Amino acid sequence: MTSSNTISLRARDFGRYSRLSEAHTVYGFYNTSCPHAEHIIRDELTSILAKSPDLAGPLLRLHFVDCFVGGCEASILLNSTANNTAEKDAAANVGLRGFDVIDGIKAKLEEACPGIVSCADIIALAARDSVFLTNGPDYNITLGRRDGNTSSASDVINNIPLPTATIDDLKTFFAKKNLTAKDLVVLSGAHTIGKSHCSSFSDRLYNFTGKGDMDPTLDANYTTVLKSQCKPKDIGTLVEMDPNSSSTFDFSYYAQVSRGRGLFVSDEALLNDTVTKAYVEGHVNATNKEEFFNDFVTSMVTMGKIGALTHHSGEIRKVCSAVNPPPPPSSAATRIDVFYCFISGLFLLMFSFF
Ligand code: HEM
Repeated sequence: MTSSNTISLRARDFGRYSRLSEAHTVYGFYNTSCPHAEHIIRDELTSILAKSPDLAGPLLRLHFVDCFVGGCEASILLNSTANNTAEKDAAANVGLRGFDVIDGIKAKLEEACPGIVSCADIIALAARDSVFLTNGPDYNITLGRRDGNTSSASDVINNIPLPTATIDDLKTFFAKKNLTAKDLVVLSGAHTIGKSHCSSFSDRLYNFTGKGDMDPTLDANYTTVLKSQCKPKDIGTLVEMDPNSSSTFDFSYYAQVSRGRGLFVSDEALLNDTVTKAYVEGHVNATNKEEFFNDFVTSMVTMGKIGALTHHSGEIRKVCSAVNPPPPPSSAATRIDVFYCFISGLFLLMFSFF
């Protein structure tokens, strides 16, 4: 999607970008095979988010969770089967939402261009458009990701950091994906939109060290507000992650974190490293959003290339929640089978005469 305010990568990011272009996703991948793909997705999301603005956060998060576990190949969308528990059913992923939106968009794209647009690209474009439609930057992404055919709940714990992660844990998880401390603090800025279930942070309110205590580093007034929203053992209520601004993609998240109002231990952990702390503090009184927007675009493009399947790897799923059924035997193969049956029958007949 090109527009006048589309952000492109800065020259100093080029080295890193070109290194990662080994994944061979490209700009304009669907220009001839499905020219309206990006418009179909944006139009669909524009009307969905107009009715349900709360879905922007879940769609952005899906892309992160997809890319960090096994690469950006839509394994997060696969349903569990009788023999396999899929990523989406891992304990750490119970809060994930937005699967129906992706399935609906996929159905529209299958009507327009059957078998062309991958679910992995749909997730990446839905995340990109969710940022734009909540007043964030608009940007181009490379496309041509293909869909994987495995998804295992047991892969989640080693790849997605928990909300209780320390700064060392976070840096380690990101480094495993070739992402830097700067990527970590920039991408954590995604918590400027969206909501969290009380269960993701209620230990900070009621049982921080297992003794019925609160997290003393969480701002006291904020703790009181959160306690009024989340009663003990409440697991279902959703709470804004960037209070009063959770539907707008801006940089107010960093001001919250610097004031002890980061919702998760992992948000607050950004104050425990010189690089990430400097970034947080540098954005508390920032006068314009351009630096954060540019950084966010750069890091999202980088994240969107993790483990992408391209060319002949993977497949283009027909529906995003299941791998394609094995292809029926081709008519040529069937003709060969009939031919061999006929010849063997002939031999059997001849031998029975002798
Ligand atoms: C740095 C490590 C991260 C941790 C520990 C983390 C953890 C979490 C947790 C626990 C939630 C709430 C889940 C729930 O209760 O429903 C959440 C929500 C969210 N996360 Fe993260 N996250 C991280 C990084 C990211 C990244 C890199 C992105 C995207 C680029 C992202 C985007 C989001 C969004 C948009 C939401 C709101 C989801 C919604 O509204 O349903 N997060 N995250």
